[in-house]
Amino acid sequence: MRSDLDDQAIAILKRNDRGGYTVPTHGLYPYQWNWDSAFVALGFAEFDTDRAWTEIETLVSGQWDDGMIPHIIFHKQDPGYFPGPSVWGTGKTPPTSGITQPPVLASVVRRLWEAEGADPAHPRLRRLYEACLASHRWFHRFRDPLGNGLVMVTHNWETGRDNSSEWDDALARVDTSGVGTYQRRDTGHVDAAMRPTAAEYDRYVAILQFGRNSGWNHRTIADTGPFRVVDVGMSMELLRANRDLRVIAEALGDAAAVQELDERIALSEAGMDWLWNDAAGAYCSRDVTTGESSGLVTNASFLAFYAGVGSAAQRDRLLAGLARMTTSATYLLPSLEAGSRAYDHQRYWRGPIWLVVSYMVAIGLAEAGHGDWAERIRADSAQLIAKSGFYESFSPETGAGSGGNDFSWTAAMWLAWVRKAGGA
Ligand code: GLC
Repeated sequence: MRSDLDDQAIAILKRNDRGGYTVPTHGLYPYQWNWDSAFVALGFAEFDTDRAWTEIETLVSGQWDDGMIPHIIFHKQDPGYFPGPSVWGTGKTPPTSGITQPPVLASVVRRLWEAEGADPAHPRLRRLYEACLASHRWFHRFRDPLGNGLVMVTHNWETGRDNSSEWDDALARVDTSGVGTYQRRDTGHVDAAMRPTAAEYDRYVAILQFGRNSGWNHRTIADTGPFRVVDVGMSMELLRANRDLRVIAEALGDAAAVQELDERIALSEAGMDWLWNDAAGAYCSRDVTTGESSGLVTNASFLAFYAGVGSAAQRDRLLAGLARMTTSATYLLPSLEAGSRAYDHQRYWRGPIWLVVSYMVAIGLAEAGHGDWAERIRADSAQLIAKSGFYESFSPETGAGSGGNDFSWTAAMWLAWVRKAGGA
């Protein structure tokens, strides 16, 4: 039987549907975002499987010839968003941004396909499989400067954890003297206290301008760009996505791809220790230029379980970190450990809870035999939605919603995961 929250979640997805793709929320984010769409497809799959596949088919319609799936696709012009298509100036049809976002798509495709019986002849599988393979190859070609199977990002927006303090040191080195003037739009939609500061925003724009000035040459950007950081989140997500894609490759009888993916998986498994920070007891993002570890424990650190990495000792340390989080947070899983420099329970990715990351962490914990932790995260997420509604993110202290309301991926996470006591 459908509950009232089920109905509300379905209504949000329908309201944010712009015909073949869903906006993350009305106003603040009026276009199609990459990883949002992947998660949103999981929500649609709960009541309209056809629409779920369409969401990601529309997303890959914006894939570049070099394999990159962009972070935003600007299907229809909307003056309420900055930086819009003319600022990015990528010259693509449909217009897109010039950077990517977390590679969670293959994992979603696998889940949709298995939910429908895992038939290798599924009519919508092959095209998406090929799109994911091309995107994973793009990461390998352009975003693995150390050759260790991890993911370097060239803009903090690529991580999806836009203003996490993991990027602060690298951002501080970005020259903003040539940025010029521009008009932000985000702070016209939500409280400025919940959004990045003006100085932070200048740096985001400066990095964008570097990419644009290079003609969006991904080689130049990767080799000489002003921001080059290995993101623990995307490194874990890509490893997981490679494992999921491998299952599909095998079902499709693509032996060459299975072998290629096996090699990548082994490389990433061995390479992940480059991110291990023993003092923090966690995997942490690390700067490629300086070699410095952020030393920060974020929700992304716990994706190690989802990626299937870590020795028994490393996993124990991570679980201890999770337990530490509960001493200051009423609700799990905060995006940054309280007490860390820059922690702020309501500022975007510097504390608030984001259910899409919680979902992946919970999957990983359950698979690793820590069902009690997975269930704690799910139950807390249920309380947040029941208390505050379908917000973009939530305070781990008060449970209040932050950022935009009627948020598509929060609604999708309710339908695909949070409402299901005992696991997704
Ligand atoms: C913000 C988030 C990012 C998300 C986007 C659209 O930029 O940080 O992860 O994809 O909003 O919801």
